[in-house]
Amino acid sequence: MELEALRDSMKSVLKHPRYLHSIGVEEVACDLAIIYGCDAEKASIAGILHDCAKNLSDAELLQCCERYQLKVTEIEATCPFLLHGKVGAVFAEKLYGIEDQEILSSIIYHTTGRPNMSLLEKIIFTADYIEPYRKPLPRIDEIRALAYSKLDQAVIMILENTLCYLEQSTVDIDTLTVDTYEYYKSALMT
Ligand SMILES: [Fe+2]
Ligand SMILES: [Fe+2]
Repeated sequence: MELEALRDSMKSVLKHPRYLHSIGVEEVACDLAIIYGCDAEKASIAGILHDCAKNLSDAELLQCCERYQLKVTEIEATCPFLLHGKVGAVFAEKLYGIEDQEILSSIIYHTTGRPNMSLLEKIIFTADYIEPYRKPLPRIDEIRALAYSKLDQAVIMILENTLCYLEQSTVDIDTLTVDTYEYYKSALMT
């Protein structure tokens, strides 16, 4: 599907604020791709589609995992919204015809990140956090500035914010987010 058609699909399946967020992620991901020498079209596609399963309820996400035989970790079973990346990648493939594995994996890992992310994965992870329609977040100006010059450092700051936010909330922390943070923190120090 062409980008324009993907935008139209997202406009019809997502609630309006989520659609605006997706357009924002698409735009920022495209800019970051140009800056860092990544494929801008892939970044745009991954950006517009990254939350394509976000409109599903917890029960629907779990049903999709069963239907498509996706592994559900203990933490995902407790917080099924964490599954919208995994399920989103399946939708991207089956409903929107995306076959590119790099795009699909950047959709899978956009919420938690993962150790040793590809450039496209880092771009989508970061764009999801800094797109302009998001409500103000701590240190967002600093993170935005870093995103356009030192991507790995922006990734670390986003992970720090996420872990700090999750520690203060009742939501459980995905161990993958902790592993990702430790990976990038130690990579930065070596
Ligand atoms: Fe998301
Ligand atoms: Fe998102």
